[in-house]
Amino acid sequence: MTSTTTGIFDITGKRALVTGASRGIGRAIAIALAEAGAHVVAAARTEKALKETAALAADAPGQIDILATDLRTPESAEAAIHCAAETLGGLDILVNNAADDHDSSIEETDLKVYQRVMDLNLQSCWVMTKAASPYLKDGGGKVINIASVLGLVGMLDDSVYIAAKHGLIGLTKAVALEWARAGVQVNAIAPGFVDTAMIGNLKENEALQAYVKKKTPMGRAAQPEEYAGPTVFLASSASDFMTGQVLVVDGGYSTQ
Ligand SMILES: NC(=O)c1ccc[n+]([C@@H]2O[C@H](COP(=O)([O-])OP(=O)(O)OC[C@H]3O[C@@H](n4cnc5c(N)ncnc54)[C@H](OP(=O)(O)O)[C@@H]3O)[C@@H](O)[C@H]2O)c1
Repeated sequence: MTSTTTGIFDITGKRALVTGASRGIGRAIAIALAEAGAHVVAAARTEKALKETAALAADAPGQIDILATDLRTPESAEAAIHCAAETLGGLDILVNNAADDHDSSIEETDLKVYQRVMDLNLQSCWVMTKAASPYLKDGGGKVINIASVLGLVGMLDDSVYIAAKHGLIGLTKAVALEWARAGVQVNAIAPGFVDTAMIGNLKENEALQAYVKKKTPMGRAAQPEEYAGPTVFLASSASDFMTGQVLVVDGGYSTQ
């Protein structure tokens, strides 16, 4: 363990896979890890947007390679782990970030939607964590699951997403225990409202802005870059004695 306060956040040479890194929070996390020195594979479906993510980290001490893949099928989720490990020469950090949302009441949600959201938001995280096991255990790794405050509390008309995010926090705790003695830490981050495509166009939607302001004690949505610090912390030796935890970064949303 490094003893200087700057050194403990240094992840130079660490090998990381970040899913959903073509925009939003995943893009901000991939860039932050590269800026902290990591070699990152950024995965998502849209190759052009992934190239933009990599270009944004062109001057970073680390670097970003890209992997265009759809993580909804278990085969492609598992293949993504092996492909990233081949590119990186191993894997130290897995950030399960890719997710989808579908806002509707349970009566208005059909099983196809349930399956589509679950396949990405929970199944892919389980499959990728399992496939990453031999790489992460080879030298002490970190899993960081991007959950949500909706993994801690409920909200109207979002039952599948909420079930998946509660499941992801459960997965975090379960695997943290299984791998604690192997030196692999498994933690989650729970964002509140974040200004990304997932919640819609915040800048041009006054009703949404008012809703976010009313619901969030800090009176605003987060910017994706506000998840850089928490993720680097969980990826670095600064968090070596922390596992199975949920780091809530929500502007006070869940304290109400
Ligand atoms: N925004 C919020 O208010 C908020 C709040 C709480 C938690 N979160 C969580 O934060 C994480 C990031 O969300 P975000 O707000 O940044 O969302 P976003 O802007 O919609 O980004 C989602 C990312 O996932 C990728 N993705 C979607 N479907 C995929 C698939 N089938 N295979 C591979 N990649 C796929 C997207 O890229 P492609 O389309 O190129 O595949 C994109 O890079 C999610 O886990 C979300 O649940 C967000």
